[in-house]
Amino acid sequence: MKTNMHIAIDGPAGSGKSTVAKRLAQRLDMTYIDTGAMYRAVTYKAIQKGIRPGDRQGIIDTAAGIRIELKGSEILLDGADVSGNIRDPLVDARVSEAASIPEVRERLVALQRQMAQKGAVVMDGRDIGTSVLPDATFKFFLTATPEERAKRRYKDLAGSNPGMDFDMVMKDMQRRDLLDSTRGHSPLRAAEDAIIIDTTGKSIETVLQEITDIVGGAGRCFTK
Ligand code: CDP
Repeated sequence: MKTNMHIAIDGPAGSGKSTVAKRLAQRLDMTYIDTGAMYRAVTYKAIQKGIRPGDRQGIIDTAAGIRIELKGSEILLDGADVSGNIRDPLVDARVSEAASIPEVRERLVALQRQMAQKGAVVMDGRDIGTSVLPDATFKFFLTATPEERAKRRYKDLAGSNPGMDFDMVMKDMQRRDLLDSTRGHSPLRAAEDAIIIDTTGKSIETVLQEITDIVGGAGRCFTK
């Protein structure tokens, strides 16, 4: 793989971007970077430290002192694997607050750019095409109807959270989407040059193939 190939995949919760990005990276032999996991790790650590909602400075200090490493699909926080902990609904409830703080974003975006400098990456998030990697080789923005996105999240979460009901999942997702798309600093939106893919009613495999065809078709010179 051409070492400076960068693929940005943005979109709201439940649009399928993380699964598609991970599988695309495997298929193209590129490194997958889950930037949402980084915001989740900061939020998880703040909760662990007893930082209360609304304590901006507490969250900023947490982000400033944190060590985050991504190893495949594992996320290490100060050396410990927190891949499961960061998916907890408590983290879901507070992550958008942490992600709206400019100092937190600046710290994590700097880390994300460092990671991208090391080689070929597929990076997924909310602001990758607009802010983190504005010169990405390819930019995709995945969408789906709110109902379909909530169904996907419910399916993901229900196994490990038996008390969860569909309306709760839908409400939490809509609240997070609203916060993410209306915040002042790099809100969730498609870059002007992003290719928008509506994934409603499509399987992961179908979306993956659509993206692979675009990447392969546009850039045969990029493949090994
Ligand atoms: O998997 P899901 O789409 O539910 O969320 P995620 O990608 O793990 O991201 C969790 C949260 O982190 C989002 O709701 C955003 O508040 C924030 N985030 C962000 O602000 N910018 C990014 N590049 C990635 C995530």
